[in-house]
Amino acid sequence: MTLQQHIEQLLAQPQKNRAFSTTYNGEKIWIKLPAMGESNMWHSVLKILFKITHNPLLAPTVVTNPKQSLKDEGLKLKHLDSLGINVPKVLLATDEYLALSDCGTPLSILIKKDNITKEDKSQIFAKLATTLASMHNNQMYHSRPALRDITYHNGNIYFMDFEENLEGILTTEEAILRDAMIFIHALYRKVPDEKLINQTLLIYTNSLHPNILQNLKNEAQKYKILYFLLQICYKILGKDAKAIFKTLNFLIF
Ligand SMILES: Nc1ncnc2c1ncn2[C@@H]1O[C@H](COP(=O)(O)OP(=O)(O)O)[C@@H](O)[C@H]1O
Ligand SMILES: [Mg+2]
Repeated sequence: MTLQQHIEQLLAQPQKNRAFSTTYNGEKIWIKLPAMGESNMWHSVLKILFKITHNPLLAPTVVTNPKQSLKDEGLKLKHLDSLGINVPKVLLATDEYLALSDCGTPLSILIKKDNITKEDKSQIFAKLATTLASMHNNQMYHSRPALRDITYHNGNIYFMDFEENLEGILTTEEAILRDAMIFIHALYRKVPDEKLINQTLLIYTNSLHPNILQNLKNEAQKYKILYFLLQICYKILGKDAKAIFKTLNFLIF
């Protein structure tokens, strides 16, 4: 059976998730289907705020044309692969789906696993920090480096889920700053071990080109008012807002 036949057989049945794994010729692979981005009121508010402030963190990235955006993702994955970035290999791309090679375990899941030692987690996050910094130093970015879209596989870090498109909205420089802030926020938001967070941030900032680090710190200075507001009501903040406060605290001082 060809890969296409195998996938079409699977798709004949309704699927619960838009990305799911299957085994083909004894190998685990992933199928990704087009999906409608969930646009809600906040996206409209952000869109207006972004127009006024041109703040990179507010850049709207909701998927409005699912098939086109899946197609774009396939092209982007092939391009990044050709540049030597660790991303899933595109095994097959059609209008209906992408078939991708397996890239292991998302870091959001790995971080919670009890059967992985602290030392191993520490090494994996060190690798994450240097890999992302080197991507940024090479003028490339992920668009939304959340821990669920970064995986670990056989000693390497892989990036996936490139559907958010910032091209034409932000300059490369702005997109890199946005990436860095989202990454730092993700660490504070999702990693339970404070020592691991600090170590990862230290390696990331030490590996980053000094100009990018300086730009990042300058950008954070613009949020000083927000920082002090968050500080005042820290006790009643939710997890996301607490992580924003910690991100700004790290970058401003
Ligand atoms: N090639 C892959 N290797 C390993 N896991 C994958 C792969 N593709 C998708 N996944 C898993 O499926 C999840 C959803 O896929 P993703 O591309 O992030 O789509 P979505 O836009 O729905 O977030 C990922 O967070 C990851 O856990
Ligand atoms: Mg995802």
